[in-house]
Amino acid sequence: MKSPQLIVELIGVSKQFGGVHALKRVDLALYAGEVHALVGENGAGKSTLVKMLAGVHTPDEGIIKFAGDQIELRNPAQAKHRGIAVIQQHPSLFPDLDVAENIFMGRHPLDRLGRVDWRRMYDEVDKLFASLHVQFSSHDPISSLSIAHQQLVEIAKALSLQARVLVMDEPTAALSAREIEELFTIVRHLREQGVAILFISHRLDEIFTLADRITVFRDGSHIVTASASALTPEEVVQHMVGRTLEALFPKEEASIGEVVLQVEHLTRRGAFRDVSFTVRRGEILGFAGLIGAGRTEVARVLFGVDRAEAGRILINGRVVHIHSPSAAMRHGLAYVPEDRQQHGLILNFAIAPNMTLPIMRQMSNVTLINRVQERRIATDYARRLQVRSSGIDQLAQLLSGGNQQKVVLSKWLATNPSVLILDEPTRGIDVGAKAEVHRIISRLATEGMAIILISSELPEILGMSDRILVMHEGRVTSLLDRSEANQEKVMFAATGQVKNNERN
Ligand SMILES: Nc1ncnc2c1ncn2[C@@H]1O[C@H](COP(=O)(O)OP(=O)(O)OP(=O)(O)O)[C@@H](O)[C@H]1O
Ligand SMILES: [Mg+2]
Repeated sequence: MKSPQLIVELIGVSKQFGGVHALKRVDLALYAGEVHALVGENGAGKSTLVKMLAGVHTPDEGIIKFAGDQIELRNPAQAKHRGIAVIQQHPSLFPDLDVAENIFMGRHPLDRLGRVDWRRMYDEVDKLFASLHVQFSSHDPISSLSIAHQQLVEIAKALSLQARVLVMDEPTAALSAREIEELFTIVRHLREQGVAILFISHRLDEIFTLADRITVFRDGSHIVTASASALTPEEVVQHMVGRTLEALFPKEEASIGEVVLQVEHLTRRGAFRDVSFTVRRGEILGFAGLIGAGRTEVARVLFGVDRAEAGRILINGRVVHIHSPSAAMRHGLAYVPEDRQQHGLILNFAIAPNMTLPIMRQMSNVTLINRVQERRIATDYARRLQVRSSGIDQLAQLLSGGNQQKVVLSKWLATNPSVLILDEPTRGIDVGAKAEVHRIISRLATEGMAIILISSELPEILGMSDRILVMHEGRVTSLLDRSEANQEKVMFAATGQVKNNERN
């Protein structure tokens, strides 16, 4: 067999941000026709490495080689010029422009007179999409596309640039199972064509499905690189956390009390129809379904972000009208949104006030915010969730993606609501902290909180929930008890293959 061709090599690269050593003399080599997975806990340095390949950060020390030659990647244009395409942790497209304009941003095809050749631009994009079997049009505005489709646009963009290296930072975090399959098909296709692929994910099943080679980082250091077939998932986790891990989904038995939240025939046009359920004190009600099933839309109505057109909501047996998030909070509801970067975090605030923001009122005496209490709560949560930072005074925007998630989660956990709605609470959170998040959720239930857990991860839903409500295309297709639920039944209902209007 021909030995694979080395495309990009990072040798002994380091990067420091203030006091944080994000990367410490790490090595990484990417070969043509190979998927290389990079794994590590939140804050391990993965995105920092990605940003070096993207030309966003330059190494403090160490070198980058491309096809054997030492190169400098001082800005994104230089990376692009080398054929290094980077799909960032958060898609960075221009929402108001259409798909084709985004793909050809800054390099519109020109006709002989030097004018933009719009026709050719749209034709090329349509051709590209045909080869990727995508369902949307080159004329669609980006803002109308799902995150999954935005990612495909980014990939299409990379393909149109004839990328030799494709770097994907948690591309699957916001995708449904089917969309992940589509993405993998495209990635495999690119691999066959000899593209060198760097793939980052917190989901080990994906890593082992896709990767040829795996590298583990821990605390900014390179721990191991090995062929995927030479490692087991357990070994990878061991390398990542550097310790043995407590059980995931440590569900504690909670005594289930009276109904706190009752939802009857709730309907919002275009989002969901006739949704009814109850949640009791101490109960964790899982919301399962594919992305787009309407689970988040239900949560948004409960929290007063959107309005329902029909149906009612009762809290402790009394009908309530929730017209705003602050009204929802007064009724004892809290909602941790799925898109935490956008909705959950004040990026230019430090960690501590971000964590304690919703409980300001509880903590402040007339005018003064109780800084001491704020710091105590923030320090406590930062420790429990292992937020990796230079301290609770670090700005939220400087945290790694997963650590930002933890800050938002803390802020709602600290409010002590009677109904807590968690939307994909462990997305983007590494395996170690995930167990801790599960433990906290479970403990809150034992303390009598009623919890709605929206998750696309079946093991999480099955492991944590007392009952599971499954939605498909805006309707409730099943309501399963913990004792009878299994992966198959949930998937069945989530794909709309059963319609037993079972409800409680
Ligand atoms: N611009 C920055 N300024 C200060 N610190 C930073 C900056 N960028 C990253 N860091 C820090 O560097 C460390 C590594 O961050 P990085 O984003 O590379 O982690 P990651 O492995 O991608 O984590 P995640 O799984 O959470 O996405 C973190 O401690 C982070 O807070
Ligand atoms: Mg990251």
